[in-house]
Amino acid sequence: MFDIDGVLMQTKNPILPHAPMVLSHLKDHNIPFVLLTNGGGQTEQARVDFLNSALSPSVSEADVGVDSDSTKLLHTSQLIQSHTPMKNLVDKYKRVLVIGGLDPQARDVALSYGFKEVIRPIDIVRATPNVWPYTRYTQHELTHHSLSATESKIETEPIDAVLVFNDPRDMGTDLQVTIDALCSDKGLFGTRRNSGASSPSVPIIWSNMDLLWSTGYPIPRFGQGAFRISTRELYKRLNDGKELEDTVLGKPWPVSYAFAEWVLGEEWRRINGSAQKGSKGIVPGLGVRPKEQLFKKVYMVGDNPESDILGGNDYGWETILVRTGVYKDGDFERNPKLARPTLGVFDNVWEGVSAALKANNIE
Ligand code: G3P
Ligand code: MG
Repeated sequence: MFDIDGVLMQTKNPILPHAPMVLSHLKDHNIPFVLLTNGGGQTEQARVDFLNSALSPSVSEADVGVDSDSTKLLHTSQLIQSHTPMKNLVDKYKRVLVIGGLDPQARDVALSYGFKEVIRPIDIVRATPNVWPYTRYTQHELTHHSLSATESKIETEPIDAVLVFNDPRDMGTDLQVTIDALCSDKGLFGTRRNSGASSPSVPIIWSNMDLLWSTGYPIPRFGQGAFRISTRELYKRLNDGKELEDTVLGKPWPVSYAFAEWVLGEEWRRINGSAQKGSKGIVPGLGVRPKEQLFKKVYMVGDNPESDILGGNDYGWETILVRTGVYKDGDFERNPKLARPTLGVFDNVWEGVSAALKANNIE
């Protein structure tokens, strides 16, 4: 099970030569692997197309968007992004406000999952520009990537939930419209409910709570967790000191590891030819562990002790920590409570996976 940012990639740059080396080795030896990231903001297909081009340059343009077999390092079914499990919410919430990521990519993801009505902060800005007078949207974005007030029905139709798919690009706007939704009168923008309460007017589901992540900058950067802390503090100030009741998915939570265990099982079946023909991958339920334990050992390879390693340890998997991301030598001395990897700390993903293969007498 591979984390992406800080293990295989640093933002758009592959960690060479080790990332392609390790994935090719596992693929060539039929060892099943899946990518489990707190990243997201685009469709799984688009992200896998990008990763294939970044990690296996030999893949030609013609292969983009096609899950053909032998040429690809990665199949779309091998990628779990932080919001992938939210496919389970399609029947529960019809009209959702999706926060984070880029326009139009994030809206496209939610529509591809089956959400009937997807509202974005940019739609709210277009319908009511003074909702946050400092927005950073360009005229091009407002013209081409937003819904008109008639289409978005911002001022007449309430939303059912707020789904945070990825890190905000305009945190000022996103903070304001998120708090507006949570404190509204039953999910209708431009209204405010009378009294404060810990339960928001509409539910909010975060796709992860990473305070920090690795971008290749010398010091880790704020992630979606920083946005969540800001939102919770503002909510508390506006609701008589009451803590916001919210839901968090993503690593380190078992719900994400259970989802990933299902997907890894499907990958094992795909490799050994026992997957149902034409299956487009499964959508496991939230928080349901597979009954059939296919694997004696699963290794989680990550760069962040507070997400990858903590979550892998709690789920009962072996864990490998690498030095190419958030973790820096000395972190355990600075914070003894940090989760420690069961196999060890390694300079890079190749060293870590090689040690795991050796420990299990696999070449
Ligand atoms: O937004 C990306 C960041 O939260 C961490 O991603 O791949 O290290 O789980 P990853
Ligand atoms: Mg990472």
